[in-house]
Amino acid sequence: MKNTLLAAATLIAATALPAMLQKAAAQDVEKGQRSFNKCLPCHAIGPGAENKVGPELNGLDGRHAGAVASFNYSEPNKNSGLVWDEATFKDYIRSPQAKIPGTKMAFAGITNPQEIDDLWAYLKQFDANGDIKK
Ligand code: HEC
Repeated sequence: MKNTLLAAATLIAATALPAMLQKAAAQDVEKGQRSFNKCLPCHAIGPGAENKVGPELNGLDGRHAGAVASFNYSEPNKNSGLVWDEATFKDYIRSPQAKIPGTKMAFAGITNPQEIDDLWAYLKQFDANGDIKK
C-alpha cells in the first residue's frame, strides 16, 4: 500500500512538473513582451518588423552588432565587434552607454535581473524572418 502511494505520488510529480516548468517559461515570455513595451517606441520585432528610431531586432540571438544593412548605425555600435547572445545582451541592456560608449541608443537601461531574463526569453524567440522559432 505504501509503495503504491509512493508510486502514485512519483507519477503525479513526473507528469505535473514538466507542465509547471512550461508554464513558468510561458510567463517569462509574456512578461518579456510587456517589458518590450519600453523598447517599442524605437524597435520593432516579429513578422514584417521595420527599422524605427532603432534597428529591427529579428534574429537577435547570434546576430552581429550593426548587422541590419538598412539601418544607419553609429560608429561605436557598428564597430563594437559584439555578437548578441544571452550574456552580451544582458550586460548591454543593463547600461547600453556603458557597454557601447557613444551609442546613439538613448535608453538608460534595465536594472532588474528578472526583467532582463524575461526580456531575453521574449527576444530570442524570433528568427531572422520574425517568426517564432520552433
Ligand atoms: C529611444 C530609442 C530607443 C529605445 C527606447 C531603445 N532603443 Fe535599442 N537602439 C536604439 C538605437 C538608435 C540603436 C542603434 C544604436 C547605435 O547605432 O549606436 C539601438 C540599438 C539596439 C541594439 C543593438 C542592435 C544591433 O543591431 O546592433 C539592441 C540589441 C537594442 N537596441 C535593444 C533594445 C532593447 C531590448 C530595448 C528596450 C529595453 C531598447 N533597445 C530600447 C534606440 C532605442
